[in-house]
Amino acid sequence: MNSTRRTPRAGYASPFIGVGLAGVLLLFGACSAKVADRAASGAGAQADAVPLSWMHFDPPEPPPMTAELEAEGRQVFQDHCAGCHGETGAADGVCAVFLSPQPRDFTTGIYRFKTTPGGQMPTDEDLFRTVSVGVQSTGMPPWQYLLSEHERWALVAHLKTFSDRFESRGAGTPVDLGSEPAKVDAETIARGREMYEKAGCGKCHGATGYGDGPSALTLKDSFGNAIPPRNYHKASDFKRGHTLPDIALTIYTGNNGTPMPAFNEALSEEEIWELAAYVYSLAELRFAGGGTPAAAVTGRDLGEPDVVIELTERQWKFIPDEIRVHQGQVVRINFQPTDNGLGVGHGFAIDGYDKSVFMNGALVQRPKSVTFLADKAGTFSFYCATQCSTGPLHPKMNGKLIVEPAES
Ligand code: HEC
Ligand code: HEC
Repeated sequence: MNSTRRTPRAGYASPFIGVGLAGVLLLFGACSAKVADRAASGAGAQADAVPLSWMHFDPPEPPPMTAELEAEGRQVFQDHCAGCHGETGAADGVCAVFLSPQPRDFTTGIYRFKTTPGGQMPTDEDLFRTVSVGVQSTGMPPWQYLLSEHERWALVAHLKTFSDRFESRGAGTPVDLGSEPAKVDAETIARGREMYEKAGCGKCHGATGYGDGPSALTLKDSFGNAIPPRNYHKASDFKRGHTLPDIALTIYTGNNGTPMPAFNEALSEEEIWELAAYVYSLAELRFAGGGTPAAAVTGRDLGEPDVVIELTERQWKFIPDEIRVHQGQVVRINFQPTDNGLGVGHGFAIDGYDKSVFMNGALVQRPKSVTFLADKAGTFSFYCATQCSTGPLHPKMNGKLIVEPAES
């Protein structure tokens, strides 16, 4: 689902292998210059191997939800969220049409990721978590790397003004899942498997969890969009994250606004943990993403670079979009985008230097770099080597590399 089709410009196959594996976070951010700076400076932090997890993110104490905080949140929302979620929160921002799944429509007051049961509203901490961690394998970015804690709480205050359900229903009460079982062994998993059959999960998720049950193709979310049930074998597709508590919580609370039911009334807590253990056991972790950011193709060892260019992307444009170097220089380009495009990140390649300069799948917090010898003088265009710029989709994801001739 997140393996967006990629159309290489020059028709190579090999560099594209592996991009799908990087399908982790994603998004497209309407970001200010400040954000680009912060993203670039955060590049050193790199990715850690901890799976993305909603449940393992511990929200700090919330500040008082004052009118001033909400007004600040309104501004932050216009700067960073409206591009997708729309100014009035109705999921009609300029980028919304490019996104699948579509951004959440906040005017409905229907939230999927929360600690509260069934139709109850999320808590402030729940909203803070989602904003901070993002929604894995969708366009929703992890804002913890780009916005301060204060800004994220301000956003929570503002989000709650989009629907009067927060007023009329009040915050829900977090469920108590008990604690994670101390030991998960083959027997736990076998009991989970039995429960999986009894509870009818396979009707949607498939008998062996490949997301291919008999109802899979008929499922729709509350916006009327087709919504595939999760394929448990791909850990990187788990929206909330691939850890036992994340999976258990989804089974307990369901996902409001989707066909994913809440099972807290049908199953005991113990059964839910066992089921979660079974679901967890199915993942082929080679699909989990993570690992260290790979260097792009460099061809040969070029030694230390003469020039280092910090390249970023904002609103699907390169910054800078013109790079000047001298012939004979060894150039390193460090590329840190501020969003993940349609989920697979952004890339970089230069016409005329295609074989030596090629990166793909650069993600927020997973920058990539490439080092090459600028051996040919002239003006070359560079472009996003991921799907971005090959069609009419992101015609602006382009720039110019000017290699000044060496003085003779
Ligand atoms: C690049 C597009 C994009 C941007 C920018 C973006 N979002 Fe999202 N957002 C999404 C998508 C897509 C989803 C739906 C994910 C899914 O299907 O579950 C989403 C979901 C959410 C949810 C989940 C609600 C739930 O159901 O529990 C919240 C909250 C949210 N976004 C808040 C924000 C805030 C606040 C910002 C700005 C700081 C923001 N988003 C910026 C694309 C975006
Ligand atoms: C009627 C169809 C249906 C049934 C029955 C169903 N699910 Fe789901 N499930 C879904 C859909 C659709 C989603 C995707 C929701 C989304 O993308 O927001 C989902 C999502 C999930 C996720 C979320 C993973 C993540 O974070 O992305 C888990 C875990 C899960 N289901 C487990 C189960 C288990 C276990 C059962 C049985 C006890 C079950 N489901 C029964 C339709 C179903």
